[in-house]
Amino acid sequence: MSAQASDLQRATLDALVNVLGNDGVLPADAVSQRQSSWIDPAPLQALALLRPRTTAEVATTLAICHAARQPVIAYGGGTNLVRAVQSTPGDILLSLERMAAITAIDLANHTVTVQAGAPLQRVQQAAAAADLFFPLDLAARGSATIGGCVAMNAGGVRVLRYGAMRELVLGLEAVRADGTVLASLNHMLKNNAGYDLKQLFIGSEGTLGVVTQAVLRLFPAPRTASTALLGVNEFAQMPDLLHLLQCEVGGTLASFEVMWNDYYRLTTTPPAPTRPPMGQEFDYYVLVETLGGDEQTDRRHFERALDHAAQQGLFDDAVLAGSERQRAELWRVREDSEQIERQHHLTFGYDVSLPVSEMEEYVAGVLSGIQLHYGQQARCWVYGHLGDGNLHINVWAPHLVASDAGCVAAIVYEPLRAACGSISAEHGIGLDKKEYLGLCRTPEEIAAMRLLKQVFDPHNILNPGKLFDLREATLP
Ligand code: LAC
Ligand code: ZN
Repeated sequence: MSAQASDLQRATLDALVNVLGNDGVLPADAVSQRQSSWIDPAPLQALALLRPRTTAEVATTLAICHAARQPVIAYGGGTNLVRAVQSTPGDILLSLERMAAITAIDLANHTVTVQAGAPLQRVQQAAAAADLFFPLDLAARGSATIGGCVAMNAGGVRVLRYGAMRELVLGLEAVRADGTVLASLNHMLKNNAGYDLKQLFIGSEGTLGVVTQAVLRLFPAPRTASTALLGVNEFAQMPDLLHLLQCEVGGTLASFEVMWNDYYRLTTTPPAPTRPPMGQEFDYYVLVETLGGDEQTDRRHFERALDHAAQQGLFDDAVLAGSERQRAELWRVREDSEQIERQHHLTFGYDVSLPVSEMEEYVAGVLSGIQLHYGQQARCWVYGHLGDGNLHINVWAPHLVASDAGCVAAIVYEPLRAACGSISAEHGIGLDKKEYLGLCRTPEEIAAMRLLKQVFDPHNILNPGKLFDLREATLP
């Protein structure tokens, strides 16, 4: 316990130790070993980190904190990208690391029931062991927990075919701020009996409740993966290429990932560990992958679709993965975004959504705006999930400092208004993006969000200050 803890905080912690035991309440110095986000190595701060073992313990914990007006931040794998679990020394962190069981796999109905502390990769592996498939996938798969994926509505590299977390969660169990357990562990694909309460918690970033269990959708395990990296000279080729592949590979297209030239060079040039699978001269690179069920025909269909695309001039060079090792190498080129921060300290990262038809002009405008402000040496690395209308943009300039964040954000975000885009496609809002929420949500939408927050968490104890401030809602 921190030496500065108030009497109320001490009493709250004593009550929590009574419920969770000594090993369920880790002290402040144990917390500082943990990171608060993938990009921010700053250690976490907290009064304590709680490790309940059951939903009932989570409920009692929240009831105690609710009564004491004690802020609580649900903490997952520590790999979010928007300071979504940033804490202060007075906060309590709630980790579901001892609630990480994969409770049941329903082979007949294609569902898996998991506790929220289970890491994504373990769920993927458990599904695979049952010859089924949990399709959500992202680079932080080893650390990201299911609870975190639900809270942030995680997306990743297969949303094009299978959807983001919103589409993959069938049911949830969540605990409200006052300790009320909402058991909505629906297993059915269709359930139209009133409000779909689980959707309130998905993407709520831990501000409306703590997710304790989830029922997730599973799919037949793919038998084949066909993967290619395509070099593309003109952005105008891209929408047609996407359309042709979607038409010709019979719904098996799972990923359509883009890298602008600078990003490809960065992840295929030392000190990055991967060598370029094709020349570095193309303006754009597209990683496409189909997942299918027919070993006889899938590869043929994939190659035939690529032949048609080549005949129509929709790409300029191609490398097809001939083995699982080559497939992993192609993915490594796309997924090694850590090179950006490793090689260029202090970059600002963005995660925008906009129509594919607007992307080329938008990115050119952002780059020229950044270079106008920060000089010709300023850089933008652009990559992402083009098939989902989602680009990641990382900005760096020689003398960029933290206080430039507002100016850079204005350059990146302002053009999204005209494009009817979003300031967050998949990473969420957290602390980093909350002041820009009004760029892509109307005042009425934000007011409705505040109302929900007040209903579900009247004392504002759950991840306070993330997503939006409550302040404006209390104005007359
Ligand atoms: C990716 C993460 C940054 O797509 O969302 O690589
Ligand atoms: Zn992404």
